[in-house]
Amino acid sequence: MNAPSSPEATRRPLSEARIADDVFADMRRENLARWSTGSGVDFDEAVALQRSLPEHKQLGRVMRRAVAERRCLTQPRGGFGTFDMQRELMVTLDRDGHADIVPTTTDSYTRNEQWDLAQKGIEESERLGRSMLNGYPMVNYGVARARELIAAIDKPAIMLTGTTMPKLTSEIAFAGGYSGYLGSGIAYTTSYIKELSIEEGVRNYQYLDRLAAMYAEHGVELHRRQPGFLTGTNIPPCIAIATCVLDCLLAAAQGVKNYGLEMGETMHLVQDAAAVAACRDLCQEYLVRKGYSDVFTSVTLLHWMSAWPQDEAQAAALLCYGGTLAAVSGAASVTTKSTHEAFGIPTPQANAEGLRMTRMAIYLARDIRLDGLPAYEQERALIGREVRAIVDKVLEMGDGDAAVGSVRAFEAGVMDVPWSPNRHCKSRVLPARDVDGCLRILDPGLMPFPRDILELHEERLRKRAERDRIAFGPDLAVQSVYEMSEPVDKLLPDRWMR
Ligand code: 5AD
Repeated sequence: MNAPSSPEATRRPLSEARIADDVFADMRRENLARWSTGSGVDFDEAVALQRSLPEHKQLGRVMRRAVAERRCLTQPRGGFGTFDMQRELMVTLDRDGHADIVPTTTDSYTRNEQWDLAQKGIEESERLGRSMLNGYPMVNYGVARARELIAAIDKPAIMLTGTTMPKLTSEIAFAGGYSGYLGSGIAYTTSYIKELSIEEGVRNYQYLDRLAAMYAEHGVELHRRQPGFLTGTNIPPCIAIATCVLDCLLAAAQGVKNYGLEMGETMHLVQDAAAVAACRDLCQEYLVRKGYSDVFTSVTLLHWMSAWPQDEAQAAALLCYGGTLAAVSGAASVTTKSTHEAFGIPTPQANAEGLRMTRMAIYLARDIRLDGLPAYEQERALIGREVRAIVDKVLEMGDGDAAVGSVRAFEAGVMDVPWSPNRHCKSRVLPARDVDGCLRILDPGLMPFPRDILELHEERLRKRAERDRIAFGPDLAVQSVYEMSEPVDKLLPDRWMR
């Protein structure tokens, strides 16, 4: 093997353009040399393994089928610190939870590429007989172990890695037979990391998207997926969807043909249904506008992504309602949580229960759709106008290039995310829940919303503030973040009705 070239040698100016094959070959060589298990990746062997998987274990195909059959699949999250615990977890989620998609969540050291610390975590977990890591250290265990995990289940497997640095984890997971990978340059960089620039996050995911597309060029259609936001706060649909569109365009530019979009539930039935439809339509609209006519997209809803109630009964209601929202919205899948969410990582059994609750709720709502309902149609049209105002401006700022436009738009606050931990994101925008229960824009910061839309948001929010006797301002935004975790007898507006 050639000595890896220096990172500078493979550096190109930022653009959305497909990474050239020779440059990518150098990037891969460099990447795989960073930890000993990287040498376990053999692309031809990986392609052969992926091709040998039965269709029902290939997430790309499973997602296409779910959309075609209008099904809503269930998918949990889950990761433990040792191989044995991880295998048992995955088997439990598959058999007891009837998960349609089986996950592997990586631990925080792996997410931050601190593989030596992950190794210590494995040893501690082995010594104490319980998981001392908050996920599975995929890179440390390497390709052969990943294959054993895939062999232990009878469903497709997806990597959930909450990272802006997916390059080595994805190489190992794909070579191990994982057919899906969650994460994207914009959503994760604004969700998970303080210092890394949007540009670096985008570059890291361009690597992953190019890798997935390279598999597709060899007959293996992997499923790439955009993760929505993990800021633990409210994200209004227009911001979530604008991010979906941009991340999706970046993936398509690398050649990805099978791409999922995720959004956290707003917990408002009509707004969530409208958001799912708008997300599906807008991603396709911009893909086609940019000349990509053959990219399959699916939309996934995520169970409530902000603070959860400690009371298990209340949490169970959020789980069930989350299934209802996903089914009614026509989402292709829902990512589930459990009654343990307020406390930490769930046991395999609680995780499996969350799956079954959600599945039952999906079944109960299976035939219900909101098409034609005026409130739904209006919300859908409203979201469309909001997203186009943002995305058109971003693309204009990049002279048509989604990567350049995104970086410039974040710098200018034109693209913005509420309460982002990332210092390259202004976080001037503030959302809050309105009088009808929909998430609205309380303060647009520097985002380019049309004036009449902002007036509408303000009017609905002022009504809410008045009704619930909360000051119109940041308090309204903060109350909307913690609301769902309040004990049931403290929930607004109940408090004011007595
Ligand atoms: N196992 C199960 N769920 C996890 N989550 C994060 N790590 C794990 C894990 N190891 C879930 C939690 C969290 C969400 C972002 O992901 O529910 O809220």
